[in-house]
Amino acid sequence: MSATPEGDLLKDSISRIQQNVDSVFDAFLTSPDDSRSRLVDAMRYAAIGGGKRLRPLLLVSTAEMYGVNRDSALRAACAVESIHIYSLIHDDLPCMDDDDMRHGKPTLHRAFDEATAVLAGDAFHALAFEILADDETGGDPFARSELIATLARASGMHGMAGGQMMDMAAGEEEHDLHSITRLQQLKTGALLAASVEMGAIMGHVPPEGRHHLRAYARDIGLAFQIADDLLDHEGDEAKTGKAVRKDQGQGKATFVSLMGPDKAREQANALVEQAIGHLASHGDDAQILRALARYVVERDR
Ligand code: IPE
Ligand code: IPE
Ligand code: MG
Ligand code: MG
Ligand code: MG
Repeated sequence: MSATPEGDLLKDSISRIQQNVDSVFDAFLTSPDDSRSRLVDAMRYAAIGGGKRLRPLLLVSTAEMYGVNRDSALRAACAVESIHIYSLIHDDLPCMDDDDMRHGKPTLHRAFDEATAVLAGDAFHALAFEILADDETGGDPFARSELIATLARASGMHGMAGGQMMDMAAGEEEHDLHSITRLQQLKTGALLAASVEMGAIMGHVPPEGRHHLRAYARDIGLAFQIADDLLDHEGDEAKTGKAVRKDQGQGKATFVSLMGPDKAREQANALVEQAIGHLASHGDDAQILRALARYVVERDR
């Protein structure tokens, strides 16, 4: 984040959303006085502190652009973050990426055990929809049902889980840029896009008014994953808080393996400019979304 007014705004927004998300999870995840406490302790371990909270910031910033109450938007944001947290817990398991470090500390199955990690993922998956279905998330049941459908679609076979399946196969199959783009749109793009879409749903923006937001989300989603692949290729483990140089070791086709790091970086930057272009109809109200687009590729973690 550069030392510009835009960079300062983003820095403040990120630290605010990080505190907000931590306190929502702190309130949701109270340890029961029985043997489930191990599950809840594991959930707290995964959910509180650590993540950049990009998805919550995308959702809340989009919602606030349309005048949505921050507390309601924050609840929906924590629903998306719950899916994201679950996806990371399962992604790190030995049967998937077999990783030992996440957010600068041992992965959940390392700190606890594999069964607890599977169950914590399951419980976050359910928590996401429990939060959205609750009328505290927003007064309008039609909007809530659209939120639920949007997040469900982005999480399942047409979204994250489908993309993870394609990613698992990416070490064995031949890939070209077209198929990698498709894989990444599902694996990471779908949840990022859902975050923006859900902010717009809460703001009662009709589907025909969301085209520019969808285009913005698609571009930053792709840029985000190219940046993740670049960080895997040349990042610093002390900063990313997770193992680097894994994709190549697993023989995984990524944007970096297909294009080389320079072209990949060029492509990511072009996508960011394109994303910002889609916000041209907005004024200062879209400053955070513009800054976020830049941050997605400039980040070192
Ligand atoms: C990492 O996502 C996993 C991918 C989807 C590529 P983030 O980089 O958003 O993860 P955290 O939550 O900020 O650690
Ligand atoms: C994980 O992608 C994406 C999801 C969890 C949906 P990666 O496997 O590339 O993420 P990191 O690099 O472990 O964070
Ligand atoms: Mg993975
Ligand atoms: Mg991984
Ligand atoms: Mg990665």
